Amino acid sequence: KKVVLAYSGGLDTSIILKWLQQTYGAEVVTFTADLGQGEELEPARAKALMLGIKPENIYIEDLREEFVRDYVFPMFRANALYEGIYLLGTSIARPLISKRQIEIARATGADAVCHGATGKGNDQVRFELSYYALEPSIRIIAPWRDWSFKSREDLIAFAEQNQIPIAKDKRGEAPFSVDANLLHSSSEGKVLEDPNVEPPQYVFQRTVSPEEAPDKPTVITIGFKQGDAVSINGTPMSPATILATLNDYGRENGIGRVDLVENRFVGMKSRGIYETPGGTILWHAHRAIESITLDRGAMHLKDELMPRYAELVYYGFWFSPEREMLQAAIDKSQEHVEGVVTLKLYKGNVIVTGRESPKSLYSSTLVTFEDDKGAYDQKDAAGFIKLNALRLRTLGQRDRQG
Ligand code: ARG
Ligand code: SIN
Repeated sequence: KKVVLAYSGGLDTSIILKWLQQTYGAEVVTFTADLGQGEELEPARAKALMLGIKPENIYIEDLREEFVRDYVFPMFRANALYEGIYLLGTSIARPLISKRQIEIARATGADAVCHGATGKGNDQVRFELSYYALEPSIRIIAPWRDWSFKSREDLIAFAEQNQIPIAKDKRGEAPFSVDANLLHSSSEGKVLEDPNVEPPQYVFQRTVSPEEAPDKPTVITIGFKQGDAVSINGTPMSPATILATLNDYGRENGIGRVDLVENRFVGMKSRGIYETPGGTILWHAHRAIESITLDRGAMHLKDELMPRYAELVYYGFWFSPEREMLQAAIDKSQEHVEGVVTLKLYKGNVIVTGRESPKSLYSSTLVTFEDDKGAYDQKDAAGFIKLNALRLRTLGQRDRQG
């Protein structure tokens, strides 16, 4: 029996690795992805070797460009926000990890895949919906739902018995669960579990606090083509480089911190602390370029579809016909979404100060308060309003009679 484990190299997935070997006598293949979490990956290889994984069964891959190009950017075309505020930084990474795990299972002849998400959360659903969509007969092992460990202490004891190294911070008051990639860092659990208590500063990993950000704004421009960011300050860059560069700007200026209580798919509410510095800048810039290049009807329809799209991503239905249908509509809307947006980054704020496009629908001739030289006949508005008022006047008449 062979199983492909989504392996971070951290304590929990190392425990899972040992547990798989002991419980199933399974041959374990580890898959560690660089999604821009900002950690060295070679230590994960060393640790896997130390835990008895054969060199040929260790997969370490840099997926940063694919992640941003094929997952983050398509999602940003939709301006997706879950419950009005969450930029879906963890949600959007799961389908890609799952897809590679299935591909590796095929390549190595493995019959099972395994992830380290708990039985209480969203991530288990995202991983497993993706696995099943891509490989309907795959076997799935979710140790958190199966093993008999009851507490953190049980896990630590198992780690000690099995010579799994334990970082000091895993015993203390650090958040229970941290997830990071190029788009965001998230923290949940432990000190964060009381939603009425402000998070301690050490929870934040990739932004300075707005209070400590510079007193002078940073001005940048972002160039767009077909709805995707393609350049910063006039320099063309790859998708992952764009996001990494925006993360640097966001970090310095205290941008993208969110403290929220969200509704998990499984039904409970949960409190999270997220940092999405570059993504927050990108979200505002994208809306700004759309504001001059999208037709009103297309824009309003897109805004109506957005919560549905965001919910699909959050619930884990990336590989579903309904997400693909919405994506096709959204991508179609982006044909002419191109141009340059100018932004001021200042103490946690993203302030749009300019937008220009060769495809702009903005017409100063039409909108001007000065002489428009006959471009627009104000008299036309009287009939426009009168017909729109027809129903309202009929209703008004009835109600005045009553
Ligand atoms: N609550 C967020 C979400 O469902 C973040 C989950 C973080 N996951 C983790 N394994 N730490 O997308
Ligand atoms: C987990 O339960 O593994 C993390 C939180 C989540 O998936 O919602």
